[in-house]
Amino acid sequence: MFDAQQFKSDFPVLQQVVHGDKPLVYLDTAASSQKPQVVIDALSRIDSTVYANVHRGAHWLSDQSTTLYEEARDCVTTFIGAESSKEIVFTQGTTAGINLVARCWSENNISAGDEIVLTQLEHHSNIVPWQQVAQRWGAVIRWANVTDDGQIDMEHYTSLLNEKTKIVAFTMCSNVLGSITPAAEIITAAHDADAIVMVDAAQAAPHQSIDVQQLDADFLAFSAHKMLGPSGIGILYGKQHLLASMPPFLGGGSMIDVVTQDDFKLADLPAKFEAGTPPISPVLAFPTAIDYLQNIGLESIGQHIESLVKLTHQQFSEIPQVQIHGPSPDQKSGIVNFTIAGVHPHDLTHALDNQGVAIRAGHHCAMPLHQRLGMPASARASFYLYNTAEDVQALTTAVNKAISLFC
Ligand code: ALA
Repeated sequence: MFDAQQFKSDFPVLQQVVHGDKPLVYLDTAASSQKPQVVIDALSRIDSTVYANVHRGAHWLSDQSTTLYEEARDCVTTFIGAESSKEIVFTQGTTAGINLVARCWSENNISAGDEIVLTQLEHHSNIVPWQQVAQRWGAVIRWANVTDDGQIDMEHYTSLLNEKTKIVAFTMCSNVLGSITPAAEIITAAHDADAIVMVDAAQAAPHQSIDVQQLDADFLAFSAHKMLGPSGIGILYGKQHLLASMPPFLGGGSMIDVVTQDDFKLADLPAKFEAGTPPISPVLAFPTAIDYLQNIGLESIGQHIESLVKLTHQQFSEIPQVQIHGPSPDQKSGIVNFTIAGVHPHDLTHALDNQGVAIRAGHHCAMPLHQRLGMPASARASFYLYNTAEDVQALTTAVNKAISLFC
């Protein structure tokens, strides 16, 4: 049986009371998840036993650290079913991964008049880098529409694909509405048009099994901090032949084989894309987070958060002032996006926070989606494996209280 209460007890931060006497109800995992004690312990153990710079020192400590760094890469390789660990680049996060692809891949592959397809569901981190590419090379961005219930309009998407389409950049799961997109279908259609794909998996990887080879993703990025790991690291997966054909992103230490006064020779993959000292301890601790998730099972986590979303929909349906945005619970991840007529989402969030309930409000770094849905901002409750039915009840009680305050 899935025992969320038991899992919650593994997370020290969630044991707190806030504002004097309110138990903390953390419903903001889509922004960042919390860390279980085993990950906190791993970070501390790493810093007190094996920490040293990686791929540089010829001493015992650096050997230990370098071995664990490459084992972390192997762990991620297996986790997403990549063919080789050369295809796994450690970055600062999903945003850095997408920027790397936008800058480096476009260098040799985008020219004036080429088309880049995005969807209206995207986070700014999967929009702005492509707008920069379009501005730099004179390319054109085409937008796949989103339906009123927050799904990609697949008929419209496929109608945009043509011989000018060079890349399709899309999210596997909306950070605003939770919509799970038909990734395999989107990728097949892009490939049929001879375009490649950049998949933003930041919100999908925490609860959805990903097999990059089965998906046939060309590039895919996600972050450790949304899946129980430390902040400051992300993973960029890229097919080896694509990464090999791209110029490096940053120049500096580690990404070179030889440097002379006149020139430099690049290191092999993936070092070519890892200039400078990486976030060493976070990378070394990430496998502990992956183990924790895999011991529970991503499928079970997905089912649990779906049940919490269903429960929230049920409870909110009894509050006439609440309007839920996005797809039905079976078509989305652990996110409930909502507004209350006459109450600004920021005011609502403050009122909920006063009762210990932490949610996010605003445009959620997705202004084009909010423009499409005709609202400047929204409130978002997001769930994970450590949330319980009692948390949903606390949210509903807090929303009712806020309504009695504002309406
Ligand atoms: N992208 C994160 C969110 O949706 C920060 O909140």
